[in-house]
Amino acid sequence: MKKINVSVKEKTYPVFIGNSILDLLPNLINDMGLNKNLFVVADENVLELYKEDINDAFAGYSPKIYFHKLKSGESTKSFDHLARIFSSLIEEKFGRDTLLVAIGGGVTGDLAGYAAAGYMRGIQLVHIPTTIISACDSSIGGKTGINFNRLKNIIGAFYQPELVLIDTKFLRSLPVEEINSGVGELVKYAFLTNRNFYNYISQNFEKIYSFDTNVLNKLIYESVLFKGSVVTKDEKESGLRKILNFGHTFAHAFESQANLKLKHGEAVIAGIISALHLSNKTGLLSNQNLEGLIKLPLKVKLPDGFLTKDFNSIYNFMSGDKKNRGGQIRFILLSDIGKIITDIEVTKNDIIYAIEKTHRTIKNSD
Ligand SMILES: NC(=O)c1ccc[n+]([C@@H]2O[C@H](COP(=O)([O-])OP(=O)(O)OC[C@H]3O[C@@H](n4cnc5c(N)ncnc54)[C@H](O)[C@@H]3O)[C@@H](O)[C@H]2O)c1
Repeated sequence: MKKINVSVKEKTYPVFIGNSILDLLPNLINDMGLNKNLFVVADENVLELYKEDINDAFAGYSPKIYFHKLKSGESTKSFDHLARIFSSLIEEKFGRDTLLVAIGGGVTGDLAGYAAAGYMRGIQLVHIPTTIISACDSSIGGKTGINFNRLKNIIGAFYQPELVLIDTKFLRSLPVEEINSGVGELVKYAFLTNRNFYNYISQNFEKIYSFDTNVLNKLIYESVLFKGSVVTKDEKESGLRKILNFGHTFAHAFESQANLKLKHGEAVIAGIISALHLSNKTGLLSNQNLEGLIKLPLKVKLPDGFLTKDFNSIYNFMSGDKKNRGGQIRFILLSDIGKIITDIEVTKNDIIYAIEKTHRTIKNSD
């Protein structure tokens, strides 16, 4: 098992990464002196698939424990499901001395994290991510929230957990589209970090799909290490942290345009391809570099008819992105691996060009 400490202004919290480590949770809660009354918010699929493992992990746990089952899917990141969590916390008489444990993917973590931030002005939170996206990305850094009015993550809070436990055993049951989705964020880290990471993921790409635990553990470890270091320097996204949104301005618009029916990480892959085209169009990225770098995101097999041709509507969703300042859309672009430039303003024509190019590149790569 590996451990990484993530430090932010108000606290330092550990992230544990390993295989079959769920059983360690009760001891960790004890050793770290965390609240013992557990309100577990768990994704329905994970509860079903891992009923035995979860029961075993908490067998003999004597303080109060309650399981709140969450409907799976992006539409659960809503006011309605947030209210249901609050209602069951109140009905089950959970007080300020509660430890909310989120077991599931990014949807569970974002929603349950926001509930923890709000309930009684904040109760302790533990993340147990069960998808690649949530393990390598969303469980780290404290962003929580819900979607509203077809806008992704438009309402939320920064709220850091007490600890994150990444048990890679959970990942073996992920369906292929969820692995694709996780690979989207891993590929993002390949562009943000360095050529070693980029080469490692390129060379071991197929091993992700065969759940090679060594490869998965290494990729998650490196991503968490990188994200943790960025969050330490800029917890609330006033500067450096923006680089973590590489590809996401496009991705959020693709998701909104598809009425949140695309897989997040798959949208991120398309978003990265768009950001590479836009980097090229603005003269930051040479044609030769574009040709080389685009190979990695294109390894991900996106579903047929993935992007619609309604380029203007995608653009309109971008104009509503919460990261815009003064109505101006700003992009995170790059000139090479690890050479990221934030806050780039471009013309509408350039944006439409990048979306069109993305559409064509994805179609031609089939
Ligand atoms: N907070 C952040 O910093 C941050 C960063 C990236 C993404 N996100 C958010 O994360 C969400 C996407 O995360 P996600 O892809 O994990 O989505 P998800 O939580 O919807 O999980 C995807 C699917 O996988 C299923 N599942 C979960 N674990 C499983 C397992 N071990 N085996 C089999 N099936 C399993 C779920 O039931 C669901 O159907 C988006 O809402 C996105 O906005 C947040």
